[in-house]
Amino acid sequence: MIKIGIIGAGSMGAGIAQVASTAGHEVFVFDSNPVALERAQANLLAILNKLAGKGKIDDRTAKAIFGRVFYFSDLAAFGETGLVIEAIIEDLAVKKAVFKQLEGIVSADCMLATNTSSLSVAAIAAACDRPERVLGIHFFNPAPLMQLVEVVPAIQTSSDVAKQAKLLIESWGKLVVLAKDTPGFIVNRVARPFYGEALRILEEGIADVATIDWAMTELGGFRMGPFTLMDFIGNDVNYTVTETVFQSFFYDPRYKPSFTQKRLSEAGWLGKKTGRGYYDYSEGAEKPVAKQDADMGEVIFARILVMLINEAADGLYLRIASRDDIDLAMTKGVNYPKGLLQWADEIGIANCVHMLDALQAEYLEDRYRCSPLLRKMAKAHQTFYGK
Ligand SMILES: NC(=O)c1ccc[n+]([C@@H]2O[C@H](COP(=O)([O-])OP(=O)(O)OC[C@H]3O[C@@H](n4cnc5c(N)ncnc54)[C@H](O)[C@@H]3O)[C@@H](O)[C@H]2O)c1
Repeated sequence: MIKIGIIGAGSMGAGIAQVASTAGHEVFVFDSNPVALERAQANLLAILNKLAGKGKIDDRTAKAIFGRVFYFSDLAAFGETGLVIEAIIEDLAVKKAVFKQLEGIVSADCMLATNTSSLSVAAIAAACDRPERVLGIHFFNPAPLMQLVEVVPAIQTSSDVAKQAKLLIESWGKLVVLAKDTPGFIVNRVARPFYGEALRILEEGIADVATIDWAMTELGGFRMGPFTLMDFIGNDVNYTVTETVFQSFFYDPRYKPSFTQKRLSEAGWLGKKTGRGYYDYSEGAEKPVAKQDADMGEVIFARILVMLINEAADGLYLRIASRDDIDLAMTKGVNYPKGLLQWADEIGIANCVHMLDALQAEYLEDRYRCSPLLRKMAKAHQTFYGK
């Protein structure tokens, strides 16, 4: 079994180390901050003890998983690894410097992966003499619990490396989807309207946060409403992802961030973690009550859903990922109740086109432009999953 190297012992690095060790690999973890290494080791012990306490794993297994992870404050040991996954700060210059240094240490056939959420994998690979061994392996947080992993070959990545990496991560019990090296990959791109369109509906005064959340959970079947979810993720984190995606898409209005969320983030109303976001989480705070108007709820739900479907269809149109991988990414990565392309079939593609065209006619904004794929399929009476 190959040895796995992890660079960065923060939330993601520590989680990925746990996954790889649980799968039976010896794992070498490096971080430039010794405190992060100590914290990662202490956290792993606590997590494994908890799992053993609940009877999810036996004591021997817990000890073995813990004993297979080794912590280093230099990279020298990484010469023995077969795959290194980088999970350090989201900064292109810093990541490039680490990959360049790493290439001088690892063996010729070691695969080098980045866990970046928003940077170009091609740009990171370009720092290496052998960019064909570099790819994106994007885990979700928390890595041990989230089943989905996006594997992202750069234009330089050899097909063999992408194939090997996919098989390896699948052997860790993960569900792997393949995504093109474009901003947000699949999940962080396709999910944007869930937040963006909900914020737009709020800003227009159509409904308040509680009502929009109610429409999406009660009528739409989503596990969390968009405002509850943004408060859970953190308005700072969620806003930054949106802004990065917007900039990376050369300011395509479809991804335009919201001032409402920017102000919340600037005010420090980050959500659950600060006790206040769209909702007030302080003790005794009154929960706002949704106006349970079914007609209004249906309008809200249909508008957000059709924008999500449009994004998923455009991802397929631009070959970001396959039909199945787009639907799997959203159901397994962010727990959507249904795949968006399957949902489009159920609503009827012609109906989706009609709804999008009505929004564009009302607002005259490029944000609502219908994907050419939906229009083409509606004309030809096609469905995503065949008849
Ligand atoms: N947090 C998430 O939800 C999430 C999800 C998917 C992907 N990601 C991506 O994963 C990466 C890590 O994110 P995180 O949330 O774990 O960050 P984090 O801040 O929790 O951890 C980063 C760690 O990297 C270390 N580090 C920074 N620079 C370093 C260097 N030059 N060499 C060695 N170690 C260094 C830091 O000391 C820190 O321990 C980022 O690229 C992020 O975009 C994050």
